[in-house]
Amino acid sequence: MTRVVWLTDIHLNFVESALVERLLDEVDAAAPDAVLISGDIGESQNVERYLSRFAARLICPVYFVLGNHDFYHGSVPVVREEIGQFCEGQAKLCYLTQQKQPVELTPHLGLIGHDGWADARLGDYLGSNVFLSDYALIAELAGHYALDRRPMLQRLGDEAAAHIRELLPQALARYEHVILVTHVPPLREACWHEGRLSDDNWLPHFSCKAMGDVILEMMRQHPVRNLTVLCGHTHGKGETRPLANVEVLTGGAVYGAPSITRIFDCTPGFLA
Ligand SMILES: [Fe+2]
Ligand SMILES: [Fe+2]
Repeated sequence: MTRVVWLTDIHLNFVESALVERLLDEVDAAAPDAVLISGDIGESQNVERYLSRFAARLICPVYFVLGNHDFYHGSVPVVREEIGQFCEGQAKLCYLTQQKQPVELTPHLGLIGHDGWADARLGDYLGSNVFLSDYALIAELAGHYALDRRPMLQRLGDEAAAHIRELLPQALARYEHVILVTHVPPLREACWHEGRLSDDNWLPHFSCKAMGDVILEMMRQHPVRNLTVLCGHTHGKGETRPLANVEVLTGGAVYGAPSITRIFDCTPGFLA
């Protein structure tokens, strides 16, 4: 059995240092074999610092992806590169987006992941009045009209999908069960927000359709393998099972109150 602690949307930049310490104490007390973080750890200028605190405090490895907030006041490719390089010198930290191969958690359980990106494909992007801070605080996305921004969002979604298209078959070839960690829910049915599914106004900013399409295509081709997707971003807790062999868990979160999203004692089969 392997014990995994999952965290999402902890947004540590919004809390005092003592609360960060309390969260680390809680994670440590759970005695995990691995910690998974599905993004929105802090912002570009402090995410390394928070990751360092995890590495210093915990015995186990920390596998993570970044969320949109982790790129605020920075640029997506630059932050990804910097965090990738930073992790090369940190034995316990693993940035899944930069991994070229699946990670083995147990002989039966593999792990892959990618930041993902809300790719403006689901819902009504051009009719939406939602303006995420992403569109002002991330270098590539700032200073554009919605129409001009759309191809950039789609490119970011496609990049995430391409990564999963490469690594998921490798993982499914080796492991009965695969965990996929991503920040942005890959399906409409996973976009939980305040107790309900998001509407067409929010969906373009809350879902990565490109990744969802790849997941469903691949999992239909591997009916005897199981996939658990762990995501966040919407801060609304929920679960969906789009196929018999796929479960998507969306983690709830509250700004200013970082907490453990869930603890799994992994045995072969679904986690939920
Ligand atoms: Fe978040
Ligand atoms: Fe987010």
